[in-house]
Amino acid sequence: MHKIIITGGTGYIGSHTVVEFQNAGFEVVVIDNLSNSQVEVLDGICNITGIRPVFHKADVSDADEMEKVFSIHSDAVAIVHFAAYKAVGESVQKPLMYYRNNLNGLINILSQMQKNNIPGLVFSSSCTVYGQPEVLPVTETSPVVKPESPYGNTKKISEEIIEDTIKADQNIKAILLRYFNPIGAHPSSEIGELPLGVPNNLLPFITQTAIGLRQKLMVFGSDYNTPDGTAIRDYINVVDLAKAHVIAVQRLINDKQVNNPEVFNIGTGTGNSVLEIIKSFERSTGEKLNYEITERRAGDVEKVWGDTTKANNILGWKAEVSLDETVKSAWNWEKKLRGKL
Ligand code: UFG
Repeated sequence: MHKIIITGGTGYIGSHTVVEFQNAGFEVVVIDNLSNSQVEVLDGICNITGIRPVFHKADVSDADEMEKVFSIHSDAVAIVHFAAYKAVGESVQKPLMYYRNNLNGLINILSQMQKNNIPGLVFSSSCTVYGQPEVLPVTETSPVVKPESPYGNTKKISEEIIEDTIKADQNIKAILLRYFNPIGAHPSSEIGELPLGVPNNLLPFITQTAIGLRQKLMVFGSDYNTPDGTAIRDYINVVDLAKAHVIAVQRLINDKQVNNPEVFNIGTGTGNSVLEIIKSFERSTGEKLNYEITERRAGDVEKVWGDTTKANNILGWKAEVSLDETVKSAWNWEKKLRGKL
């Protein structure tokens, strides 16, 4: 049984990815400092798969802690590295905190891979590296620009750190997955997104509004150059996204790479506006959403969606779950959280 280390494995995307690796027969070790997640997420994982992953409460940005954890798991075949701060607005306020955490974390992981001869890395990157693309959909060869936020810049710099490390040490094999907007929850409603405080992201704000925790959703901007005037994103189901990581690791361990690193867009290939997401929510759940159009949010791009042909053809991965089903899974998770399912 292959052992795999998942950093940030109690987080939103991380927890769904743990489940998919366990389903695929991997032994999963989770590293997370629980700074933005709860240890009970492991119960949810265990309820789905029947397996409680080995868990280390440890901070990837702490070199000594990583030294200890990796000395126990030097037999891992690959690392899936999620652990990072991710709030765009907060990163503008606290850039050094973001650079220190996200970059030191990656550097420590790469150092431990070298030290322990662990060859494979799957890194969670973001479509934020494309900024506002001139040509849509974006492909992996679309220009990478300096992102709007320090958070986004940590993703761009992280990609560069990985590329430079590989240039110097071809023993390290990496796949960079550039995610579009992950949404939804596991169909079991055992795990899902757990935002602390007021959500920044659209879907948790919608579901918290519909359940009565927020008064109304503010739709940020209706004067964009899009068919209905609201901004467009490529919303990808989180379980579909999680599966892409399993395929990426299998590709690494089976020596299937043609470049090192390889980069893949992970999205649906379709853009949806904010109003279309609201319609999908109302259609799939039968709930009415209270919302109001307001000013644009600073730093938002107008429209972005991905060309996922490369992931479809080379990884053999494809987004499968429909938008309505995905949005409904987010609603079921919200209801479960509030004891209403
Ligand atoms: N939106 C609203 N009201 C809200 C929240 C969001 O109208 O209360 C709109 C936004 O303006 C945007 C869309 O919904 O048009 C999606 O917003 P999110 O905050 O959910 O997602 P973003 O596209 O802003 O950010 C996501 C990830 C980031 C990543 C970025 C890259 O959260 O990690 O995509 O584009 F950097």
